[in-house]
Amino acid sequence: MPRYSIALIPGDGIGIDVVDAAMAVLNDAAIRFGFSLETTRFEWSCDYYLQTGQMMPADGIETLRSFDGIFLGAVGWPAKVPDSVSLHGLLLPIRKAFKQYANIRPHRLLPGVRGPLRSEKFDILCIRENTEGEYAGAGGRVHQGTADEVAVETAIFTRAGVERIIRFAFEQARSRRCHLTSVTKSNAQKFSMVFWDEVTREVARDFPDVTVQLIHIDAMAAKMVLAPESLDVVVASNLFGDILTDLGAALQGGLGFAASANICPDRSAPSMFEPVHGSAPDIAGKGIANPIAAIWSGAMMLDHLGEKDAAAAVLSAVAASTANGIGCTPGTHTTAQIAAAVVAALET
Ligand code: IPM
Ligand code: MN
Repeated sequence: MPRYSIALIPGDGIGIDVVDAAMAVLNDAAIRFGFSLETTRFEWSCDYYLQTGQMMPADGIETLRSFDGIFLGAVGWPAKVPDSVSLHGLLLPIRKAFKQYANIRPHRLLPGVRGPLRSEKFDILCIRENTEGEYAGAGGRVHQGTADEVAVETAIFTRAGVERIIRFAFEQARSRRCHLTSVTKSNAQKFSMVFWDEVTREVARDFPDVTVQLIHIDAMAAKMVLAPESLDVVVASNLFGDILTDLGAALQGGLGFAASANICPDRSAPSMFEPVHGSAPDIAGKGIANPIAAIWSGAMMLDHLGEKDAAAAVLSAVAASTANGIGCTPGTHTTAQIAAAVVAALET
């Protein structure tokens, strides 16, 4: 029987609620499909920071490296620890250290879920560059606290980094509807974004079967609202992908439905799976967070581990539940009720 080692990092706030709910579903799928998920729980969080002065131990990355996958809830509790500290102490270092350069975020409506748009027929796969770009963390501040203060934060675009994410996106497009939309702002940012466009055109030569559209981020924001059904795979830099995927989440009914996978494509290190939403301190621990985004992220993890049938079954069970109105409207069902409905659907 295949056994997969999973590092569980529930993190903060509703991260804990949704990880526990999702694991109940994933473990049930494991039993039904004949594999096991051997989880090790790491209580790395803002509370851990308050106790130890760090978000994870100094050897945290090395500890995680041997796992087959990482399943994360949410990181951040700004009233306890500044986001700039908590995110740069846990989530972002994992993405970078493990070369999880492809952040994959699917945006489509689950059956029974109403989005804000008239068009309900969209199916977008957003591929966000996840290790460099605007979030590279290169910069500094001088003359701090004085009237002469200067803050600099430089976006970093390397040929290796841009080429690999564009190539990855083309491959995804090839496995879907063969259309790729590459998002930049190359009319205003004349170095990095012009470079991104150039690399896109170069890589496109290797994918003659995929149609490519280069679009600017401002026009893209409008297009996602006005003509989302015209999009297939979308590729964007770290910042642009971050923004567009919150928009995508809104179009699919809210952050409670938005799943994501931080993929290390060459599998030299574990990939990490997490819902797009944050820790939502206002509803933390109340048992009312929607676990669907986490369950869908878990399905992406099963898929990445090679358990394709189990992954598809989990997604079908989620869809069967939402089709029955379970988990579609905030406040109607508890976290546990939604997870139980998905487990029940999995078993029929
Ligand atoms: C996300 C989040 C993170 C990001 C934050 C919390 C650093 O917004 O996963 O989209 O921007 O990467
Ligand atoms: Mn975000």
